[in-house]
Amino acid sequence: MVSRSASLSLLLLKLVNSSYYGFASHIDTISRAVTMIGIKEVSDLVMGIEIMHFFDKIPGDLIDVNTFRRHSLACGLLSRILAAHKGLQHTERLFLSGLLHDVGRLVWYRYFAEQAKMVLYMAQKTGLALYEVEKECLGISHEEIAGYLFRKWHLPFGLENNIVYHHDPISAPNPVEAGIVHMADIAVNALGLGHSGEHIIPHFDSKAWDLTAIAPGTLFTAILQTNEQLDAMEALLAEEWH
Ligand SMILES: [Fe+2]
Ligand SMILES: [Fe+2]
Repeated sequence: MVSRSASLSLLLLKLVNSSYYGFASHIDTISRAVTMIGIKEVSDLVMGIEIMHFFDKIPGDLIDVNTFRRHSLACGLLSRILAAHKGLQHTERLFLSGLLHDVGRLVWYRYFAEQAKMVLYMAQKTGLALYEVEKECLGISHEEIAGYLFRKWHLPFGLENNIVYHHDPISAPNPVEAGIVHMADIAVNALGLGHSGEHIIPHFDSKAWDLTAIAPGTLFTAILQTNEQLDAMEALLAEEWH
């Protein structure tokens, strides 16, 4: 599938040769890239990048799509790096989970623009977090929309777990991974690395420290590593997404 698309092939080659993977030797063919990172990882990465494509036409007066993508990408990178620090196996799944964690919100920005305007306005007016207001105004949260989409698209449950519970990791069947995405989301919000419409930092569940067993010092190191990768990764994906 990747080989049939020149732009995806180029993107994949740039990715595998970037600091994101940090391989010592240069990789110049798709088949070599697949050998190095695995067919599952390649297909997952392509899927995540393609899903973000569906939402190119977000009305600019609601949210700048680049700001949204920066938030998503930063959360993906930090989730992946935290997972690597913990020695988890499925670090790509954590990247994808972070990348897509607020994808449910894109659905209402894209397809329910009038309601989205009202929700954004209500969050500003009440001073409450957007994720609290949206459930009240729309009757459904962005996590529930994502869960519905993921089941409809038959995406792996691991992904659904991390995304549906990213604001409430303690309730997740796999609380460790959901806790990592939760921690990463709050950190990138606090650091102002893009945003997905939130005007305040969402509530951080302090139980996430125990759930993930990630020390504050590790989070700090992971944030520095995310900062090192973010601009390069953003520039790389910007060519694909525009
Ligand atoms: Fe969220
Ligand atoms: Fe978020």
